[in-house]
Parts: sequence; C-alpha cells; structure tokens
Amino acid sequence: MAILVTGASGQFGRAAAERLLAKVPPHELILTTRTPEKLVDLASRGAQVRRADFDDAASLPAAFEGADRMLLISTARVGTRVSQHRNAIEAAKRVGVRHIVYTSVLGAAAPDNPAIVKLDHRATEEILEASGVAWTFLRDSQYSEAVAMAMAPVDIMTGRHISNTGEGRVAFVSRDDCVDCAVAILTTPGHENRAYDLTGPELFTYRQVAELISELAQVPVEYVPVDDEGMFAHFDSLGVPRHASDDPAQGPIPWCSTDMVSFARAIREGFFDVKTDHVERITGHPPRTLREVLLAYRPTWPRPPARG
Ligand SMILES: NC(=O)c1ccc[n+]([C@@H]2O[C@H](COP(=O)([O-])OP(=O)(O)OC[C@H]3O[C@@H](n4cnc5c(N)ncnc54)[C@H](OP(=O)(O)O)[C@@H]3O)[C@@H](O)[C@H]2O)c1
Repeated sequence: MAILVTGASGQFGRAAAERLLAKVPPHELILTTRTPEKLVDLASRGAQVRRADFDDAASLPAAFEGADRMLLISTARVGTRVSQHRNAIEAAKRVGVRHIVYTSVLGAAAPDNPAIVKLDHRATEEILEASGVAWTFLRDSQYSEAVAMAMAPVDIMTGRHISNTGEGRVAFVSRDDCVDCAVAILTTPGHENRAYDLTGPELFTYRQVAELISELAQVPVEYVPVDDEGMFAHFDSLGVPRHASDDPAQGPIPWCSTDMVSFARAIREGFFDVKTDHVERITGHPPRTLREVLLAYRPTWPRPPARG
C-alpha cells in the first residue's frame, strides 16, 4: 500500500516526501526522480528512491511497481509535457495504482482561459478522467513563493514592477499549503474524483503586490503597467525565450515568455480572481498569507542598490 511521489527532488516533491515520511512508515514511500543522488538523505531514512524520467516510458512500470497512491507532479516543460504525463499515467495504471493526485492550475477547466499552462493541465486532467484510475486535481493558484523568490528580488534591484496583469486579482497560495493538501489527500479517504481550487486567503492586484514588496523591503517600487506586446518586449530584452525547452542544446530554460505573458493575461481577464476555503477544509489550518510568505523569504532578498 505504498505512496509514490514523482519528481521527488523538486521543490514540491521534496517537501511532500519530507511530510509523508513523518506520517507513513518509510518503506511505504516510493520516491522517483531523474536524479536519485539528490535524495540520498531520504533513502538513508528508509524511503525507496528510484530513477524515473517520464520521457523514458519503458522504464516507468518498474519504477512505479508496488505503488497504490501517487502524487503526480506536473513537469516544468510548459507546452510539450502532456506526453510525459500520459506516459506516467499509463505506467501507473499498468502497475495497479488506484489513485493519482495531480498538481494542476486554477482555471484549468475554463475554456476561454488564455494561459497556455492551462492547455497542458487540462489535457492531463482529461487523460486522468478517462483512465479509470481515481483522481484528485489540485488546481493551484499562483504560488506566493514565485512572488517571494522570483519577483521581489527583481523589484528591489530595479525599483520597478513591470506587469501586464492590469488590475486583475490573484489569491496567491503558498506552495507549502498545496503540499499540505497533497499529503492530507494521500493519507485520508474521501478525495477521489474531486477537483480543488487551492488559493490563499486574500485577493491582490499586482499593483498591491508591488506596494507590499516596497513596504517590506523598505525601498520604492514603481508599478509599471504594460500591454502584452510591451511585456513580450521586456522579456525579449532580457533574453527570455518565447518557448519552453528542456533540451540542453537550446538552453536549457524550461520556462518562457509565452507562458508568463499568457498567464498574466489570464490574471488580467479575471481567471485567477478566485478565493476558496479549500486549503483549510483539506488541511485543517488556514492558508498562509502572502505577507507571511514574503516575510519568511525577506532575509534572502538582495540589498537595494544606491540610487542617485
Ligand atoms: N501554480 C504556480 O504558481 C506554479 C509555479 C511554479 C510551478 N508550478 C508547477 O508545479 C510543479 C512543481 O513545482 P516545483 O516548484 O516543485 O518545481 P521544480 O522544483 O522546478 O520541479 C520541477 C519538477 O518537474 C519534475 N520533472 C521535470 N522533468 C521531468 C521528467 N522528464 N520526468 C519526471 N519528472 C520531471 C522534476 O522532477 P525531478 O527533477 O526530481 O526528476 C520536479 O519535480 C512545476 O513543475 C509546475 O508544473 C506551478
């Protein structure tokens, strides 16, 4: 009756593995990853660590053997990852996995949602729905950690927050809360064939996000609204590729401006203007606020440059 976590060396996967180790006997935890050497510490605590790459379909059944429930962590190659997810689902089904919990995105089922990430996630959800294996979709809002780790340092260093989100709002959710939900769902009954919208407790515009970063960092941050073309031009000027690739010959950069610009457009058009109580209902604790997450990461932020 083992629980399997795929992508267990990633940020979501490792956090889920750590929390599951506190709840289940270690030998009942199977951790798969492309890089088992990153998980030697968890193997030494008794977890079964196995190599698995979703691009290598033939190897997956052996890697998944013995699993009963599975946390399928979406891969990072936005736009071309459905085949990877299909390989994983087919292998899981073949070895008798009964329940797959999948990390999706808020708005995955909204037909007009322009965020390109939605296409991969909804296609994967449909494969799961047709698979005959029980499923749970974690439709995560935008992670607070993305603001804390990726956006805040840039805002602090440049004094500007450039965005094509307009006045659209997001209830940022902590990735840690999404991990807590995944762990609760994998270890308690009653979540089969349900989709949850995992959000934080407050809706913010990006103008308000810039104000919050400015307040916490004690540095001016000007909010600079731009349209989609302006946002593409900005990313182009930074050398960000338009399309994602994890092919080393092309980068490797598994993220791209088409993803980020279309995601922000979805925010502008209201597809992320959603706030639910699903985190608290699933985990029994309230979701972390954006302020809490930013404060936790504040010690890692750079010192602002002197401006004349
Ligand atoms: N809602 C949001 O705001 C938001 C933000 C960021 C990401 N996400 C999604 O959430 C996922 C997890 O986030 P994270 O922060 O943990 O990202 P991360 O640390 O970059 O991890 C990427 C994950 O993809 C797995 N992966 C990549 N290629 C794979 C392959 N060929 N076969 C099997 N697994 C593969 C990695 O597994 P190994 O390296 O261990 O093999 C790892 O678990 C992301 O991949 C993305 O889909 C959502």
